[in-house]
Amino acid sequence: SAIDTFDYVVFGATGDLTMRKLLPALYHRFRDKQIPETARVIGAARSVLSDDEYRDRADKALRRFVKPDALDEDLIHRFLGMIFYASVNGAEADSTWENMTRLFDDSVADKIRVFYLATSPELYGRICGNLAAKGLVTESARVVLEKPIGHDLDSARAINDEVGQYFVETKIFRIDHYLGKETVQNLIALRFANPVFARLWNADAIDHVQITAAETVGVEGRGDYYDHSGALRDMIQNHLLQVLCLVAMEPPGSLDADNLRNEKLKVLRALKPINAADVQHVAVRGQYGRGMVGKEIVPAYLEELGEGRQSDTETFIAIKAEVHSWRWGNVPFYLRSGKRLPNKVSEVVVQFRETPWSIFNTKLEPNRLIIRLQPEEGIQLSIMSKDPGPDGMVLRPANIDISFEKAFATRYPDAYERLLMDTVRGDPVLFMRRDEVEAAWTWVEPILKAWKEHPGTPHHYTAGSWGPDAARTLIQETGHVWHEDMK
Ligand code: BG6
Repeated sequence: SAIDTFDYVVFGATGDLTMRKLLPALYHRFRDKQIPETARVIGAARSVLSDDEYRDRADKALRRFVKPDALDEDLIHRFLGMIFYASVNGAEADSTWENMTRLFDDSVADKIRVFYLATSPELYGRICGNLAAKGLVTESARVVLEKPIGHDLDSARAINDEVGQYFVETKIFRIDHYLGKETVQNLIALRFANPVFARLWNADAIDHVQITAAETVGVEGRGDYYDHSGALRDMIQNHLLQVLCLVAMEPPGSLDADNLRNEKLKVLRALKPINAADVQHVAVRGQYGRGMVGKEIVPAYLEELGEGRQSDTETFIAIKAEVHSWRWGNVPFYLRSGKRLPNKVSEVVVQFRETPWSIFNTKLEPNRLIIRLQPEEGIQLSIMSKDPGPDGMVLRPANIDISFEKAFATRYPDAYERLLMDTVRGDPVLFMRRDEVEAAWTWVEPILKAWKEHPGTPHHYTAGSWGPDAARTLIQETGHVWHEDMK
């Protein structure tokens, strides 16, 4: 649908996220005619740059991060013309703010203005304070907060309190880009538009669930951020718990933002609390050593950090979670994420219970529903079938396999494309409400605490493997195996 004109203001405009994700996403939306040419993208950062110097950087970023078949010289030229730059010390109340406010002098008072904070989260409160002091927090203003919101519960609360002094909750968009992924949204469709699955979605039918986000990359020059974060904060507290919520939640009364988020919140609050003594039994942390990913020899995490660095930071984590509810009694949810694993794959594996009795000689594999979030978005259902031929009833698993890209013959937009436009539209349904973020921190906090109190080196794993052996042991305790080890 057509969108009124707007200003998209990005703090942290020279940073990696802006270059890699935000500018390419806005370019794609412009290309798809969802952004009127009167809209402006305003980059803000401390570096002193002219509009043209910043446009140069944007130009390079587009050519690097947009697929070549979507690059069009005329479009790029027009898009760059919509970009402006303001050199601002966002966190300080100094005169550099005039570089931004002067851009707004001639504009309509209630123009939609999005302030996207892609800076370090410690600055969120101060930037919002300055926006308010400059009179920029108008009726049509909204603020977008990148993850992580803090590094633990207290700091998350402090940020939420501070931002909350200047923006009302309905104008605060806490982004979790996993919610913008098509197949993550498709989970909602799968569950609530297909009674065949809805009826099976409970502990009677489901044996356990695995949620994996595996990456082949290492820390990619983000060592300083990552070493303070680690996989638990970087992936589990937000992305994987959000996916878990969509898998486990009760049907919301409607797709209204608060209805949906109320149901997700209930899941987060129903997660079995992990007490200090449990941590070592339900959470495995690992750190990669030198190894081979694909055909490439890659350095150890510590080598990537730099000469002589020591670190206990986990680059891999596996956790056994439980949702204490009527629907999910005794169904383990295994969450797992890591860097330098063999494949880039994010998926949900739902394993169904075994047949109560078998009339066949063949061993029966349980049915599995695999929801692939990326790459090759799709859904697979494994079913036992008769092996064709005259040799009697020999069975083997076969797959019902839907590839969304083939089924819909369309390009899959990047998660940020959808989410950035939602912030312009003011639609918060795919964003995290304050209470969700804090409930997620509440759940991970005992693990963070236990690890801090007992530093101990994380388990070693070789780059290019599926993580430490201890992760295998964790899931084997309940008689299960990780997806890649399934036959
Ligand atoms: C980000 C993390 O939130 O998600 C990164 O900070 C990670 O460390 C990325 O690489 C993974 O996202 P995706 O969309 O590639 O699965």
